Amino acid sequence: MQQKSFIFLLLSFIIWSWWTLHCVVSDPQTNFVKIGCSQYNVTDVTIFHRNLNATFRDLKSQVGNQSKHFATAQAVSGNNPAYGIFQCRNYLSISDCLKCFDFAADHIRNCSVGVTGARIIYEGCFLRYESSGFFDQNTDAGNNIVCGDKAKNSTELASTVEQVITNLGTATPRIPGYYAATKAPVPNSNGSSIYAFAQCLETLTQSGCQDCLNTGLKNFQICLPNTNAKTYDAGCFMRYSTTAFFADNQTTNIKHFLKQGGSSKKKAIIGGVVGGASLILILLALFALYIWSTASKRNPRGDILGATELKGPVNYRYKDLKAATKNFSKENKLGEGGFGDVYKGTLKNGKVVAVKKLALGQSKQMEKDFESEVKLISNVHHRNLVRLLGCCSKGQERFLVYEYMKNNNVGQFLFGENKGSLSWKQRYSLILGTARGLAYLHEEFHVCIIHRDIKTSNILLDDDFQPKIADFGLARLLPKDQSHLNTKFAGTMGYTAPEYAMHGQLSEKVDTYSYGVVLLEIISGQKSGELKIDEASELLLQRAWKLYDRGMHIEFVDKTLDPNEYDAEEVKKIIEIGLLCTQASPAARPTMSEIVVMLKSKGLLENKKPTMPVYVDPNFRPRTNGSTPNGTSSSHATVSISSISGR
Ligand SMILES: *[C@@H]1O[C@H](CO)[C@@H](O)[C@H](O)[C@H]1NC(C)=O
Ligand SMILES: *[C@@H]1O[C@H](CO)[C@@H](O)[C@H](O)[C@H]1NC(C)=O
Ligand SMILES: *[C@@H]1O[C@H](CO)[C@@H](O)[C@H](O)[C@H]1NC(C)=O
Ligand SMILES: *[C@@H]1O[C@H](CO)[C@@H](O)[C@H](O)[C@H]1NC(C)=O
Ligand SMILES: *[C@@H]1O[C@H](CO)[C@@H](O)[C@H](O)[C@H]1NC(C)=O
Ligand SMILES: *[C@@H]1O[C@H](CO)[C@@H](O)[C@H](O)[C@H]1NC(C)=O
Ligand SMILES: *[C@@H]1O[C@H](CO)[C@@H](O)[C@H](O)[C@H]1NC(C)=O
Repeated sequence: MQQKSFIFLLLSFIIWSWWTLHCVVSDPQTNFVKIGCSQYNVTDVTIFHRNLNATFRDLKSQVGNQSKHFATAQAVSGNNPAYGIFQCRNYLSISDCLKCFDFAADHIRNCSVGVTGARIIYEGCFLRYESSGFFDQNTDAGNNIVCGDKAKNSTELASTVEQVITNLGTATPRIPGYYAATKAPVPNSNGSSIYAFAQCLETLTQSGCQDCLNTGLKNFQICLPNTNAKTYDAGCFMRYSTTAFFADNQTTNIKHFLKQGGSSKKKAIIGGVVGGASLILILLALFALYIWSTASKRNPRGDILGATELKGPVNYRYKDLKAATKNFSKENKLGEGGFGDVYKGTLKNGKVVAVKKLALGQSKQMEKDFESEVKLISNVHHRNLVRLLGCCSKGQERFLVYEYMKNNNVGQFLFGENKGSLSWKQRYSLILGTARGLAYLHEEFHVCIIHRDIKTSNILLDDDFQPKIADFGLARLLPKDQSHLNTKFAGTMGYTAPEYAMHGQLSEKVDTYSYGVVLLEIISGQKSGELKIDEASELLLQRAWKLYDRGMHIEFVDKTLDPNEYDAEEVKKIIEIGLLCTQASPAARPTMSEIVVMLKSKGLLENKKPTMPVYVDPNFRPRTNGSTPNGTSSSHATVSISSISGR
């Protein structure tokens, strides 16, 4: 008895130490595999290196800021372009990917100075650059294999490896993202397993990935039956080992991807690898694997498909929301937004939330889209965006439940009862944070979400006075061709881009425009669309342009601010950004990510100077009753768009 429990304890300890060693410890896997230097000619090495450095910076920031395991970048100025690819194994954390990147970017410079192309391969990542495009290259003569130690007892091992890598070769090209990690036990081997991984460049086509992996599978035949091996080609990387090199919970469920697809194709692939004779053996093995993986308790990794697979939002019960908001009482009402009234609610568990009772009218579209839109919005997570926690449907009514923001909205602090209480630093952080939130919605979330109603009252403030954008995604619930005619919505004249207000032309630049107006409001403390008697009845954009144009931009800054807080050049830069955002042509307005970069860079903008902005005459109101039910843009010839003339 005692001996048994001792062995049990010992075993537990061994398993525990294995876990701590293999699962928790960060490891960027910078074990070197191969470096290659290629020779092309560039006309100017300095320009090329400048482009190359820009390319590397871009790659790194994509990995770090967007949590990507694969990135491409190019800098093409001065006729000496540099193209780069970085690929990191998907089982690594982003911080390990960044470490591997730094290591690679450093060592890839070992190629002599004149060299204009190089690639370096590590177990954990791959970095390559060239002076011409190569993103779709799948195989080349440089493909190779690195064989590990010879195995002692090889028969069982070899046949297991054979199965595992063949399956990987079949499944990987069909898996979104082109990567797979699998683990399979070696029979009669006292519990040892094969760990295997395959990955193609995401820029390849499915057949390009397949061709590359086929080369890798052939290469593996050279090593078998060794305990581990790595093979690489221009477009892919494969590795197997009897030692774990990723955690068990990082494995991919490749079962589906083995079944689908034409059998003739599968035969061809398999035939290329091992020859027709072993086909039956492999089919048996596949069957065994199928049985094994069904029987195994391992969680199927939904999230492999599921980088884009959405989690459902919480469905709140109407009864609970009613209780939380004291039956939607007046005293709990926080405000009236473009999409409905908002109430403060305290749930049974004590959590304080904001409940929005949607007033979008009843439309078939809305009925149909509500659930999928809510699902989409509830998956948007960014520190500058208000979290949607869940929803509730009761008959025709729809409710959305959001995290609660104690400090109200930016408008309150600029124009309301707290007027004049924001410091320059706080204003700057509002401007930057709002830009970041929008850049995320436009460019980083997997669906481009255009907000369409950016204004100071839609920018809430958290406990640390960080801005959080509210109401994003809701405009998607409006009938498609009428949203710009919705009166409540257009209550926000003064923020709306002219091309959208008049013609319903929708693009991300509609948000850029509104953002520009908000930025200028934050700097000046003046409300857009509001005529100020003491400022000679000038509209915000008009005044901003006139003062900027005359070099009197300091005059534009809110008079409640202490002039020692800000610097004239910085003020000028920010006003320039605001004016660039409100240019007449959407194409002339920067993207939100460009704005983030401009805000963070020192000094003024290069080559970008605003010209006169445009605005929609505040007397204009869109004619809702004039629109046909299917909303074909009824003519809005009465609208006046005004350019702003300096007097
Ligand atoms: C995998 O396991 C490790 C170690 O326990 C854990 O830290 C990690 O969060 C897990 N990852 C996933 C995706 O479940
Ligand atoms: C590159 O340029 C050098 C000198 O300018 C020349 O000798 C060499 O042949 C060129 N190589 C290629 C591949 O064009
Ligand atoms: C590019 O970066 C490397 C390393 O950071 C540096 O040594 C080199 O001077 C840079 N080259 C150019 C042209 O900026
Ligand atoms: C994120 O992007 C910014 C510029 O947009 C850059 O300065 C920063 O270094 C990036 N972060 C990482 C981890 O690369
Ligand atoms: C690159 O050069 C450094 C310093 O000379 C050396 O430590 C490193 O091992 C080299 N890396 C490769 C991949 O050759
Ligand atoms: C290898 O393992 C198999 C199965 O366990 C066993 O039958 C065989 O005798 C072993 N061969 C050697 C050389 O150890
Ligand atoms: C399996 O491992 C145990 C303990 O590690 C050892 O006693 C036993 O002989 C091993 N069996 C085989 C078949 O290698």
